[in-house]
Amino acid sequence: MKTLLSQSRIEEGVACVATKIAAVYGESPVMIVGVLTGSLVFMADLIRRLEMPLRLGFLSASSYRGATSRGSLVVNSDLLPDVSGQHVLLVDDIFDTGHTLVRLAEMMRSNRADSLRSAVLLRKEGRQEVEYRPDFVAFDIPDEFVVGYGMDYRDMFRNLPYVAALDPEDIAEVGV
Ligand code: IMP
Ligand code: MG
Repeated sequence: MKTLLSQSRIEEGVACVATKIAAVYGESPVMIVGVLTGSLVFMADLIRRLEMPLRLGFLSASSYRGATSRGSLVVNSDLLPDVSGQHVLLVDDIFDTGHTLVRLAEMMRSNRADSLRSAVLLRKEGRQEVEYRPDFVAFDIPDEFVVGYGMDYRDMFRNLPYVAALDPEDIAEVGV
């Protein structure tokens, strides 16, 4: 496993995104909607750098990948408050193919959010399959499988305080 983003670089990146978010929303109230589980650590650090009035909501989204297809996205919105009339900021860990955020953005619009933007910690270069782009991105990274700072491999490594890239040998060693 090799460190891709150290704790201090992550801190700088999160601070920079928070400044950009604050510049866009000003004093307007915002509903921050985290995509569980990967966005947990990013969201916790991000909201403590924001000073506008804000509410929190959560969604979970997982894609079950079949052998031949991309797989369907299963969304659970039990923990999502009413977003109608709210300025919604979706927060996710990684923008990879982009299908997850596209689907969630559509969902927020159909639930009549007043405005919809998105913030991600990481965007993987060259992987996007959609036109949609997140409004705020802390880091662009190469196309590697990453863990830590909330992100997992088979639900492990979320607690690492830095972001690391997993080698194929690491993946074999996890043995799960
Ligand atoms: P997308 O729909 O392809 O953009 O998928 C985004 C989701 O896939 C993220 O929210 C993550 O949960 C997951 N994901 C994509 N790449 C990685 C990775 O390198 N490590 C951990 N999770 C990942
Ligand atoms: Mg995710």
